[in-house]
Amino acid sequence: MKKLFIEQTVDKIGQEIGLYGWVDSKRDHKKIVFIDLRDRTGIVQVVGDEKFKELNSEDVIYLKGIVKKRPEKLTNPKLKTGQIEIQALNLKIISKAKPLPIPVNSDGYDIDEEIRLKYRYLDLRRLRMYKNLLLKSKITTFIRNYLTKEGFLEIETPILTKATPEGARDFLVPSRLQKGKFYALPQSPQQYKQLLMVAGIEKYFQIARCFRDEDPRKDRAYGEFTQLDLEMSFVTQNDILELTEDLFTQLVKFVFPEKKIQQTPWPRISHSDAQIKYRSDKPDLRKNKQDKDELAFAWIVDFPLFAEQTEKEYFFGSGKAKFAPSHHMFTSPHPSDIDLLDKNPLKVRGLQHDLVLNGFEVGGGSIRIHDPGIQKKVFDLIGFTEEQKKQFSHMLEAFSYGVPPHGGIAPGIDRFLFTALGEPSIREVMAFPTSSGGKTAVMDAPSEVTNDQLRELGIRLIGEKSKFQSSNVKSSPKSK
Ligand code: AMO
Repeated sequence: MKKLFIEQTVDKIGQEIGLYGWVDSKRDHKKIVFIDLRDRTGIVQVVGDEKFKELNSEDVIYLKGIVKKRPEKLTNPKLKTGQIEIQALNLKIISKAKPLPIPVNSDGYDIDEEIRLKYRYLDLRRLRMYKNLLLKSKITTFIRNYLTKEGFLEIETPILTKATPEGARDFLVPSRLQKGKFYALPQSPQQYKQLLMVAGIEKYFQIARCFRDEDPRKDRAYGEFTQLDLEMSFVTQNDILELTEDLFTQLVKFVFPEKKIQQTPWPRISHSDAQIKYRSDKPDLRKNKQDKDELAFAWIVDFPLFAEQTEKEYFFGSGKAKFAPSHHMFTSPHPSDIDLLDKNPLKVRGLQHDLVLNGFEVGGGSIRIHDPGIQKKVFDLIGFTEEQKKQFSHMLEAFSYGVPPHGGIAPGIDRFLFTALGEPSIREVMAFPTSSGGKTAVMDAPSEVTNDQLRELGIRLIGEKSKFQSSNVKSSPKSK
């Protein structure tokens, strides 16, 4: 039999039903015991007999009962099911609950985040968190439907891969079969999506997991996050902007009908104008910043292709270069600025577009370089050594077999939802986020591994950790 959701009970007046759920609260009136029964769709009042006395909050139960209309003066307008109650006929306790370490029937903002993350499976029972997960699911479903209708193919790209430099540190995974070598987890599927364009896919998207070892902020998750990654061939920058704008406009209507997009079409502001007028490349254009239902989208375009870089900040290249890519090294220079690549690289504009919402960068993308000669020149300007260039030789080779002009964008799914809801941290819209200290929710990774596992990978730890390893190995079942 299909499980009946609590919100459906309102349509069953006079009928006998079976209901599963958690005991949200109990009120003991001697001969009669009231409980509020909860599932993910809401709460309903149940009238039980003395058997209900043994129930505790959060016990999981099954009960049979009759749905009754409540007398007018006993209705509860705050509940979706406030017009009815269930007169219990019998009760089955499926699973008992110990007292919970954190309350789950508040919004949870005032509870220490480390504890919320340790018990995330309980924390997610709170209605606010459930609603956030529901919204995320609606967003990805909407995106899939929209893009599929537009002729896009959803394609998965590898997680065990080679570093794609997006400006953060890589997460490395040691190889057992080729000792001393490492995979990198993708900071984004950037290179693969460009290779898919060489493959003739023309329109690709992926709800892609990205991995970046960078300091967390309120809008930046540590470790991993999700992007809508998309790429198209034979397009102009305007095509990408228009598609994204229509997708998000329709998405907002569907997922957040109560929210208003402040201005359409979205303003397009050059990077230099944004700096002069707002002193920011992600200006908050809301008229009323207190209004939680106002969404002010904007495009920032005409970024400089390169940013000047001091030795200390130096990230890309051999250590001698002065230029770092503003977006990434695959972004195409503006066609009318190609000559400046040799003469004055800092004056070259890139075909980059950032999507800004309420003062946050919620997406970034560009038209890509498809000319191997220009790509090589950009590698030189950012100071790549011959060795470093070799790391990207597959891109240059791919571009030598007939490459369509192409471009795309990657809006952050978590970042967008966090911004649209005005949540205090991006972790509020992620099911199992990593804590700011880099610990994963509930499972507490990273964790030690056995010496046997390390040996198999050809790895020996140095310093303090290796001492730990030698004591750890004694308790390892494998090493006995
Ligand atoms: P970029 O690095 O600008 O571009 O990332 C695109 C979008 O991804 C989101 N994002 C994050 N969200 C949460 N936590 C993070 N640590 C984090 N880092 C990024 C943001 C950001 O705007 N490959 C290119 C895209 C392209 O050129 O098509 C890229 O990844 O919303």
